This record gives sequence, C-alpha cells and structure tokens, in this order.
Amino acid sequence: MTIAFPSTSLQSQATLPSGAPRPRLTFIGTGYLGSTYAICFAELGYEVLGVDVDVDKIASLNAGEVPIHEPGLDDLLRKNIAAGRLRFTTDYREAAEFGDVHFICVGTPQRADGMAADLRYVEEAVVGIASKLNRKALIVGKSTVPVGTAEWVEQLVAKHADPNLGVEVAWSPEFLREGYAVEDVIRPDRVVFGVKSDWARDLLYASHKGSFDLATTEDREVPVVITDFATAELVKVAANAFLATKISFINAMAEVCDAAGADVTQLARAIGYDDRIGKKFLRAGVGFGGGCLPKDIRAFQARAQELGVGEALRFLHEVDLINQRRRQKVVELAAELLARPYGPAGPDLAGLRIAVFGASFKPNSDDVRDSPALSVVRRLVRTGADVIVYDPAGMANAKRELPDVRFADSMTAAAEGAHLLCVLTEWEEFRNADPVALAATVSTAKVIDGRNCLDSSVWARAGWEYRGMGRASSEKPATAE
Ligand code: UDX
Repeated sequence: MTIAFPSTSLQSQATLPSGAPRPRLTFIGTGYLGSTYAICFAELGYEVLGVDVDVDKIASLNAGEVPIHEPGLDDLLRKNIAAGRLRFTTDYREAAEFGDVHFICVGTPQRADGMAADLRYVEEAVVGIASKLNRKALIVGKSTVPVGTAEWVEQLVAKHADPNLGVEVAWSPEFLREGYAVEDVIRPDRVVFGVKSDWARDLLYASHKGSFDLATTEDREVPVVITDFATAELVKVAANAFLATKISFINAMAEVCDAAGADVTQLARAIGYDDRIGKKFLRAGVGFGGGCLPKDIRAFQARAQELGVGEALRFLHEVDLINQRRRQKVVELAAELLARPYGPAGPDLAGLRIAVFGASFKPNSDDVRDSPALSVVRRLVRTGADVIVYDPAGMANAKRELPDVRFADSMTAAAEGAHLLCVLTEWEEFRNADPVALAATVSTAKVIDGRNCLDSSVWARAGWEYRGMGRASSEKPATAE
C-alpha cells in the first residue's frame, strides 16, 4: 500500500506510552546513520535521545561535536542541544524510560569470515533496550540488514522484554546519502514502514509527522510505502543493488569505449536523455565505494544464497568485479602514461613521483571506507612509486588506514615535482583547480582523471597530457581535437 501523506485516514494520533504530546524518539547507535537521524529529528521538533556504548562519542556529541563530516550537521546539533530537545547517553535504562519509539541504527559491517553481514551490533542494541523496557514501546530497525532480520529481532524482543508490556517491532530502512544526509532525512523522497499492526503504523506515522508537515508547507508530498517486514528489508538492499549495477553498467561501457575509441561521458549523456534510463548514477570512473554499496551487494548475494536463490543475484558478482577492475585500470593508465612496461606483476614505477588528489570515497565526505581512491593509492605504492596524497577532508581518516603513505597539506604541495597527477575524488576544489598553475608545479604535466570531472580540453590547452576513464577520444591532446 502506498499513501501520499498527509492522509486523513492515518492522522488519528496513537496514544503514546510516555504520555508525551509527540512521540519521544531514541536512536541507538550514533554512527553516521544514528547521529544524523537523532539530530535531524530533533530539528523536526521531536524530543530525542541518542544512545551509544562509546563513552567518548557520547561525550563529544553532548559537547556539540559531530564525529563525522556532514555539511550542516554541526550547526543543527548545537542548535537542538541548546533548545533542550536533544541529548545523548550511554545508559539503556535512561533510553527505555524516555522513549516511545527506539530506532536501531547500529552498523552491520561485512563479516570477517565471508560476504554476509555481521549482526552482532543489532543483537546488542535490541537486547540492550528490550531488557530495560518497563512499558510498551516500538522498536524500529533502520540498519541495513539481510532479509529475515526483523523476524529474528521480534524473537529477541519476545525473549528479552517483559511479555506483559506488548513491545512491538517494525522496520523502516533509511536511504541517506553521505554529503546530503541532512536533506535526505528532513526531506525524504519516500519512507517505508514495514509493520504488523495499525498501532505500529500509526506510531511510525506520528514519529514522521514533522517531516510530512514540512512537506505540506513546501507543497510537496512524501510517499509512504506500507509493507510487511521482508519487503521493507529488501527495499533497501534492492535499491543499493540497483545503484551499484547502474554504476558498473556505465563502467563496463567505459571498458568498451576504451577499446573502441569512443567516449563514455558522451555515451552516458546520450542514453541518459531516455527517461527510462535517466541521467543519474551514470558517471564512469574509478567506481563505487563507501560504507554501503560494496558491502550491501555482497551481503545481499550471501543472503540470496542462503535462501536458495543465489542464481538470481549472480549478476551482482559481476557488478563487483567490474567495480574492482576500475581501480586497477588507473595503474594500467599510469604505466602507459609514464611509459613503463606493464608486466605480470604490474608495472615498476620506482623513481617516479605520483600526486593523488582525493582520499574520501566521494566528495563532501571524510569517509574513506572502501574508498576507490585509497585502493588505487595502495596499488600505486606497490608499483614502487613515490605517492603523495591530498584530500580536503578525508586525510585524518586516510592516515589511519595508510600510516606509511605521505600526505600533503594542499594541492600545490602534493603536486610539487610529480611525474603524474591522479584525480580520484571529484571534490569541487579539484574540478576548479587551475591547470596552468599546477603545470608549473609538477615535473611532467600528465594527469589521470579518475572521475572524468576535469575539463579535458582546458587541461590539454594548459599543456597537460590528459587521460580520462573510458574516454579514448580525449587521449589525444585537445589542440588536435
Ligand atoms: C548510498 C546510497 O546512494 C544511499 O541511498 C544509501 O542509503 C547508502 O548508500 P552513499 O554511500 O552515501 O549512499 O554514496 P552514493 O552517493 O550512492 O555513492 C556511492 C559511490 O558510488 C561513491 O563512491 C560514488 O563516487 C560512486 N558513484 C556514484 C559513481 O562512481 N558514479 C556515479 O554515477 C554515482
């Protein structure tokens, strides 16, 4: 069932267990997901408590410091703490006494022993809150999980919460994109409620009413898809599988374009005009990374295998392989541009200096989890090259991942004396960089545009030998175009 809110049928406010006029919300797990949701729902007017076992993280959030880089979030945190609507705690008992709705927002990383998701944090969070409850409440899963998890959570709750309280479970996946997370939470393009009862549905509605009311004032509607548990869980992984497939599709076309002498950026533009295909997520380059897409497509395959439908998702293995090949492609291009042979063990780039612009998995983020940029840096280091990295926000995290790699404080410092420049994250600072000034800094003006984000003709005019990804035509100097 899909309802475009506001709908009159669901506006009757459920009686709240806390007796408060609006549902009191807790967000358990204050990582990327939970801290963003906690802060944004306080901004939407709810009384919110963020919960985490990490004492330092809670102390820093209570002091007004967001542990992640997300535009706009710091200001909203401080504003809502000051307004008295937002607090953070490590105490599950306090959370149980406070909340009507408890959102589970903990991480579900890839397991060390395979492709499946590790659900230990979900278990800890659910048991942590369920065992402390002393009145009815709704526990809502938000973390990305294998289908079937919500039923298991329900069993955990049945085991650990007092059965007389009537605690219920629901599932409501999130779709926030890093860099746009505030906007995605406050103005969602849709919400999904996986529920088993009208009580849970109405309480979830009341818990999102702030965002529906905002939509009304802006003459928008927020579609709400009401569904069963399994569908709600699958919506999230299906969406991410589709996005990953779309990126790998265009990267596969980039491989073909390279071989055929075509230009994938023009190809993407031309096919994107077809509404059925759409322009978004057709940027070829070094491929997708981050804390979601890579692990989600692997966990999805693992779960499909368990369900006996592994074949249905076999294509996701190919999506993953295409994505991994993009990273090695940069090393191949580097060898080609630097005129070093590419042997079975890769090229020997010893004695050459390579400047890398970019460490985070995408711009406007300091997140380096499964970052294609860092994967390329690791591969370049293995060639024996002297690699030096600059990123506007991701360097602290990158240094922790790659303690032996050198980092520079600016584009110019990184480019100094380089034989090759690789742009691996499409930060605005790099897109707007002055190729003339940079050409004067480097030793030889050769650039690999791993995100196809530079204006190839402007760079070629400034004297650069330019290589894009899947842009065979751009390999000729622009003066010859
Ligand atoms: C993703 C989903 O978009 C979001 O809905 C979900 O909730 C979490 O996972 P996020 O990981 O923040 O969000 O990043 P996204 O913007 O999807 O980008 C993922 C990766 O794909 C990045 O490394 C990005 O650089 C890459 N990408 C994206 C491409 O290589 N080409 C494109 O055309 C688009």
